[in-house]
Amino acid sequence: MSDVFQLDGEDVPFAPGETVMQAATRAGRYVPHLCWHPDFAPHGSCRVCTVKADGCPAAACTLQAAPGMDVESDTEALNAQRKTLLQMLFVEGNHFCPSCEKSGDCRLQATAYQVGMEGPHFEEFYPDRPVDASHPDVLLDFNRCILCGLCVRASREVDGKNVFEIGGHGIGTHLLVNSASGKLADTDLTPDDRAANICPVGVILPKRRGFAVPIGQRRFDLKPVDEA
Ligand code: SF4
Ligand code: FES
Repeated sequence: MSDVFQLDGEDVPFAPGETVMQAATRAGRYVPHLCWHPDFAPHGSCRVCTVKADGCPAAACTLQAAPGMDVESDTEALNAQRKTLLQMLFVEGNHFCPSCEKSGDCRLQATAYQVGMEGPHFEEFYPDRPVDASHPDVLLDFNRCILCGLCVRASREVDGKNVFEIGGHGIGTHLLVNSASGKLADTDLTPDDRAANICPVGVILPKRRGFAVPIGQRRFDLKPVDEA
């Protein structure tokens, strides 16, 4: 691994075929992200990882690293853009952090803290999204979905089940449960499936296990997202 690119002025080595996100993460460098996960192919949908590569905006999770590439990520302008994206995500769904089981372990919340988001800025949409509590062991709270597609990929690629899908277009894009009734109870999802345990926010939650780890002692309570 002899090739390097520059990330915010420092060398990052990379192997052929690696993306900027993969190489940066392996080197212990944090690039903000929501829809990217090291175990899955990139989705390229949230755009929170947008960097400037040789002056051009690009998603770090899909951009192939190239020798000598000059990548800027931790700049005032890019972090301001990320904050705006996060603010739009917060108002597009219903995110009430103090009552969410995922608070302190939520990548959306932690990333918002990391970029200094102090309020939603935009007017809330307050969409009407019913909860699916039909499954005996897993609750689905669609209010918090950020459409990262991780559950879709995990169910398809790891569990071999295809329980979730993203459907619709534009502002109508939404998470679907792939059963005739559209209910989670009518799928073969089990609580130990990868898809049941990958949601970066508080949509897919185990039943009867609320607040097992107290608020204040959760992953991003202990360390900010760029160090966790
Ligand atoms: Fe992503 Fe969670 Fe929504 Fe699935 S339910 S798309 S994992 S935010
Ligand atoms: Fe790259 Fe979402 S993390 S687009």
